[in-house]
Order: sequence, then structure tokens, then C-alpha cells
Amino acid sequence: MESDSLLTRLVLESASLGGKNSSLPRSWFTIKTSRSEYFFDPQPIEGDLSCVYSGYENNSEKTEVVLKLARNVGDNDLMQNEIKVLKHLQGRQAPQQKHLPVLLDQFVTDQNLVGLIFARFDGYTLSTIRENPRYKSGIPTEHMVWIFCRLLSAIGYANKEGVIHGNIEPSNILIQPRDHNLCLLDWTAALINPGKSGDGFKLYNPNYSAPEVKERRAPTPAADLYSAAKCMIYLLGGDAQTNKLPESVDSRIALFLGYFLLPSPLQRAQDAWQLYAQLQNLRTEIWGEEKFVKFDW
Ligand SMILES: Nc1ncnc2c1ncn2[C@@H]1O[C@H](COP(=O)(O)OP(=O)(O)O)[C@@H](O)[C@H]1O
Ligand SMILES: [Mg+2]
Repeated sequence: MESDSLLTRLVLESASLGGKNSSLPRSWFTIKTSRSEYFFDPQPIEGDLSCVYSGYENNSEKTEVVLKLARNVGDNDLMQNEIKVLKHLQGRQAPQQKHLPVLLDQFVTDQNLVGLIFARFDGYTLSTIRENPRYKSGIPTEHMVWIFCRLLSAIGYANKEGVIHGNIEPSNILIQPRDHNLCLLDWTAALINPGKSGDGFKLYNPNYSAPEVKERRAPTPAADLYSAAKCMIYLLGGDAQTNKLPESVDSRIALFLGYFLLPSPLQRAQDAWQLYAQLQNLRTEIWGEEKFVKFDW
């Protein structure tokens, strides 16, 4: 990776312009790497371990990109891990690639912070969706189902490639209401073939991680499925801690979700592809043949 000494200085300059005197216009900052040049709005989204800036690449298409910049050098290993995992997953042509973030570029600042540049996925996180007043009591079950199908498809692809995501939670899932696409973000805590490498889970998320994560037991794909079901409970307006769902949710859907949440990973749902097929059948049973239902925003 190449070092870009401009980056940190420019980020700090921009931040202080906005912070000290908000009447001053905020100036975008520039990143130059050996691959390309990028411009970014200095107002970041705060991730768990990074700041994420929106901008574009200085090419003829003005490709929309985001910069994910580590806040602490101590998290560089997780950022490097995300690079390694995404390269592993992007090695093969598959329709599920559309559910993965597209890593375009990477660098290290003069303060030794890792920066990753991704193609911008034009969508909303599940957390943002629930913040919309329209969905303050949860989204309709039919919409949860297409989101769940796409999430299972992303998890199924990763799991078949030997990868466990390890931190599926609402702010790591982006969806595009207009065409029902989904992107599973943030592969910083992911594991590649942990059965062979002996790697353990890297991160415990109290609301969304499976019990075996806290207990530091061997990682299996069932951990991702547990977290995915918790996210769906949250989307439906349920309580992700107690797993209580709103009364309006069809009992067959509630039963299906319950299978993902069994405490023992061996008894729990294991195979995302099988579950994807079961969910498609359930959808037909409840609502009839699949048709595109517009998700109002
Ligand atoms: N490729 C992307 N396109 C659009 N938004 C993104 C993209 N990657 C990250 N984001 C935004 O940045 C936030 C934090 O990103 P994430 O990868 O989860 O960082 P962290 O590892 O610090 O939690 C996400 O919740 C999302 O809002
Ligand atoms: Mg995140």
C-alpha cells in the first residue's frame, strides 16, 4: 500500500474549518493515490471504527465513492482484514457480487491510518430505515422478506467461500428501496476458513451477536444467521433483545425466524441457501406468486 501524506492534514484542515467557525464554507479535500484522484465532502458518517466520507473519483464518469478511514492505528489490523476478506470474496464471478461492497483503492496516511475507497452504494442502512417516521413501528413483513432473501443470498455466498461475516447488524446492511438490492458492508470482523486457521470471533455485539461469540466458542456460519434474524426482528419493529415481534407478524414468519435464534449453533439454522429456498416457499404460501411490491420511502 502506498502512503499519502496529504490525507490526514487535509482531513484535519477541513474539520477545523467547519468546527471553529461554521460560517466558513466547508472545503472538500483531495486524495491522490497511484491509481487515481478523489474529492471528498469533509462531513463524515461515523462508523464503529472509521469515519466514512462521501465523494467522487476524478474520472470522466465522476464515479461516486466513499472513503473509509480508520480513526485509530490500533484498528488498522481490522481494516487490513476487510481488504483481505473482500479480495477473497471478489475472486469469483457470481450474481451475489452485487451484494458486496466494491473496493476500489487503498492507502496509508502519514499518521499510519489505513484508508479504503469503495464504490458508493446508493442506499439506506436498516437503522436509517427504522428512523424514518413512516417506519417507526417497523416495516411491513412483505418488505422484510425480500430484504431477508437478499441478505441470505449474500451470507450464503460468503459462507460457501469459507467466510463468516462476524458482525451482521443494522448499520452494516444497506438497501436500495427502488430496485430491492442489498449490500452487506463492513467485513472488518470477518473470518476466512476459521476451522483451518483456528481464528476466533473478532468482535462481540451485545444486541446482535450469537451466544457462542461471547462464550468464545468455535465460529460457524450459524452465527451469521443468528445475527441476520435479529436484524429482521429489528426491521419488523420487534425487540432485538427479547426477540418479541409485533402481533401483526404472521405466525409462520415468527416460527421461521425462531429457528435462526436457537441458542445452540448445532440446533440452529445452518445453511443460508436452504433457508433462502424455504423463505421463498413461505412467501408464496402466504402472499402467492412473487411480485414486485414498491417500498415507499
Ligand atoms: N460502500 C458504501 N456506500 C455507501 N455508504 C457506505 C459504504 N460503506 C460504508 N458506508 C456508510 O458508512 C457507515 C460505516 O461503514 P462501515 O463499513 O460499517 O464502517 P465501520 O467498520 O467503521 O463500522 C455505514 O453504516 C454506511 O452508512
Ligand atoms: Mg460498521
